[in-house]
Amino acid sequence: MIEVEHLSLTYHSAKQTHLAVDDVSFTVKQGQFYTLLGPSGCGKTTTLRCVAGLERPDLGEIRIDGAPVSSSNKDVWIPPNRRSIGMVFQSYAIWPHMTVFENVAFPLRYGVKKVSGRDVRDRVQKALDLVQLGHLADRAAPHLSGGQQQRLALARAFVMEPKVLLLDEPLSNLDAKLREEMRIELRHLVKSMGVTTIFVTHEQIEALTLSDVIAVMKNGKIVQEGNPLDIYQRPANAFVADFIGKSNLVPGTVTTNPSANGIVRVDCAWGSLACSAPSGSTSGAIMVAIRPEHLELTPSGSADENVLVGTLEAAAFVGNMTDCIVKVGQTSFKVQLHPDRTPVVGSQVSLYIAARHCLAMRADA
Ligand SMILES: Nc1ncnc2c1ncn2[C@@H]1O[C@H](COP(=O)(O)OP(=O)(O)OP(=O)(O)O)[C@@H](O)[C@H]1O
Ligand SMILES: [Mg+2]
Repeated sequence: MIEVEHLSLTYHSAKQTHLAVDDVSFTVKQGQFYTLLGPSGCGKTTTLRCVAGLERPDLGEIRIDGAPVSSSNKDVWIPPNRRSIGMVFQSYAIWPHMTVFENVAFPLRYGVKKVSGRDVRDRVQKALDLVQLGHLADRAAPHLSGGQQQRLALARAFVMEPKVLLLDEPLSNLDAKLREEMRIELRHLVKSMGVTTIFVTHEQIEALTLSDVIAVMKNGKIVQEGNPLDIYQRPANAFVADFIGKSNLVPGTVTTNPSANGIVRVDCAWGSLACSAPSGSTSGAIMVAIRPEHLELTPSGSADENVLVGTLEAAAFVGNMTDCIVKVGQTSFKVQLHPDRTPVVGSQVSLYIAARHCLAMRADA
């Protein structure tokens, strides 16, 4: 288990200071796959480096299996090589002058807990077999494919049998197809090891497919934590709705109290919408988030509520759907339609959105 409490870190450079991590707290349970997700510069790597002991936080406490490894109050500081952590960086940091075997053996031979010759061989072989590189032990490390190098980096992290695995964008320099394969493999590997893992990414699809829990970060803070379905279906604010998947975000004003089933009425630029408020009560000025896949075509002239009448401005066939732009008043909506049901560009369309898919939320994160 990893517990991070009130972690803060400011970088100081010649001219300026930058609060990279701002009072971040989270808990990763034993064996959990926990992801820090957010845009570039939001503080993901810095948070991970604090857990690894590669940065010293200004404030806060980090505990691994209950024992503090860093605490500003208690003045505790355990150096990285004594934290029982395996780490995989984006670059993999593989030693090019060594074989596959020697790369994995390195931490056993030169780490804090030195391991004797025969044990080295057994443990390296076990780690390589786990990532299916056993048959390539004698190959020079640079002569591996991208995906194999990534597995080698994992084997080197696994060989020490760490309590905690930290992964900083480990899939980002693989090509798209391999990245998809490795995504599935990575979760399988980590879960079969049972190791408590923090994974860092700015790719929402990686976070959604890999994680038990996702923490969405913005400007050094965690703005929402939850399981992938919660984060996607019940974003807490407009930032999360926009960052995770695509959303149409339209400003509005709540004009009623919630009904018995939690529906509120919201006035928007072109009219009124029935919305749900999944992340708690809302009032006054809010944002409505609508996913492109939740807008459906209705027969023209339908008078039901939550129908938007507009003009189909653009349509791009992308295989399993057609990405469309529909202009309603001054607002452009991203809409995903079935290719067989896409009207001609320029025609008038009416779109229906179920109230449960019109999410009223706070505009700020
Ligand atoms: N050594 C440093 N000195 C000064 N500022 C730094 C340093 N390292 C990072 N920063 C700044 O701290 C902020 C957080 O950086 P961090 O590397 O944690 O972001 P990140 O979320 O990992 O981003 P990315 O997705 O681009 O890797 C950024 O604004 C960055 O410019
Ligand atoms: Mg980073």
